[in-house]
Amino acid sequence: MNLDNCYNFHDFRKLAKQRLPSPIFNYIDGAADDESTYLRNTTAYEDVDLIPNVLRGVKEVDLSTSIFGKKINMPLYCSPTAVQRLFHFDGERAVAKAAEKFGTMFGVSTLGTVSVEEISKISTCPKMFQFYFHKDRGLNKNMLERAKNAKFDVLALTVDTITGGNRERDLRTGFVIPPKFTINSLLEFILKPAWGINYITKPKFDLPHLKEYVKAGTSAMTSIGDYFSNMLDQSMDWKDAEDLGKNWGGHFALKGVVSVEDAKRAVDIGCTGVIVSNHGGRQLDGSCSSFDQLSKIVDAVGDKIDVICEGGIQRGTHVLKALSLGAKACAGGRLYLYALAAAGQRGVERALNLLRSEIERDMKLMGCTSIDQLNRSNINFRK
Ligand code: LAC
Repeated sequence: MNLDNCYNFHDFRKLAKQRLPSPIFNYIDGAADDESTYLRNTTAYEDVDLIPNVLRGVKEVDLSTSIFGKKINMPLYCSPTAVQRLFHFDGERAVAKAAEKFGTMFGVSTLGTVSVEEISKISTCPKMFQFYFHKDRGLNKNMLERAKNAKFDVLALTVDTITGGNRERDLRTGFVIPPKFTINSLLEFILKPAWGINYITKPKFDLPHLKEYVKAGTSAMTSIGDYFSNMLDQSMDWKDAEDLGKNWGGHFALKGVVSVEDAKRAVDIGCTGVIVSNHGGRQLDGSCSSFDQLSKIVDAVGDKIDVICEGGIQRGTHVLKALSLGAKACAGGRLYLYALAAAGQRGVERALNLLRSEIERDMKLMGCTSIDQLNRSNINFRK
């Protein structure tokens, strides 16, 4: 298996599995409890069918759309995800450069491994900074200022990690950041020497947005679950979110909303977008999938703020289904992370290219030449 014979999500996943030590692969690949929400995020798309129209002259297709006041050249962007330099030594740099080539947005996480300052130097594309709300208000203030000064376009406050999800794969493999070479995991790392050599020879792993506040690898930073449970502020409420949005002063979204009630409240506190997401099924297993909630949320707030559908997207047709229900754009993590792990920037470019081609091909097959032609009359609800 190599990059040239990766044609879809599953191929990139296989290649990532070959390249990464198992604790790291399973960190990306795993989800909470029985991983049922993670699976549902994708199977939900099978409950509706696309209804194509024909004979519409579809030679030229415009895939662009606008989110958070910025034009992007395709209706899919790279969600912010944590610790990318563990997956490939270029990490967020590779994703930023690939997103730039496709003229789409990408996100940098609070747990990012390349700083917002560096990213802003290499990217002219719209950028999202994903914000975790810590108990340490000094850290929150510092991150907000840094993202502002680095001219990030959108602040996305993650609201579905109030405590750590039960990720049993991580418990079994002993995944911590930075990776610890325990007796159990050592063999795994020895089996993937290319990853190991890069890990040792490339710049040391760190978390530049937390650096002065947490020493990665000390007892303060063990597993992702402990980070969520111990460092984030479990008393965070609507007032905190509203204040954060005001202090930010620009486009502001809540990431991880699945209820209509919360989407409406997001409008009330001044959000300009809501990211319908369940954190890739990594938090509350058994919660509803993003796609299952999408039309209700669009009906409630879609005329006021941007509704983004995130999670489970593996195909161009998934994007078309979400857009037909009224999402302004779609986003995903694993859809580019396996490709990043497989081959860095080249991998992410191949994944985005394949998805863009699928979206374009599917638009033609649907008889549509622009995103705004997709609507619910294109959709057959089976249930
Ligand atoms: C995750 C966080 C860090 O592991 O986004 O899901």
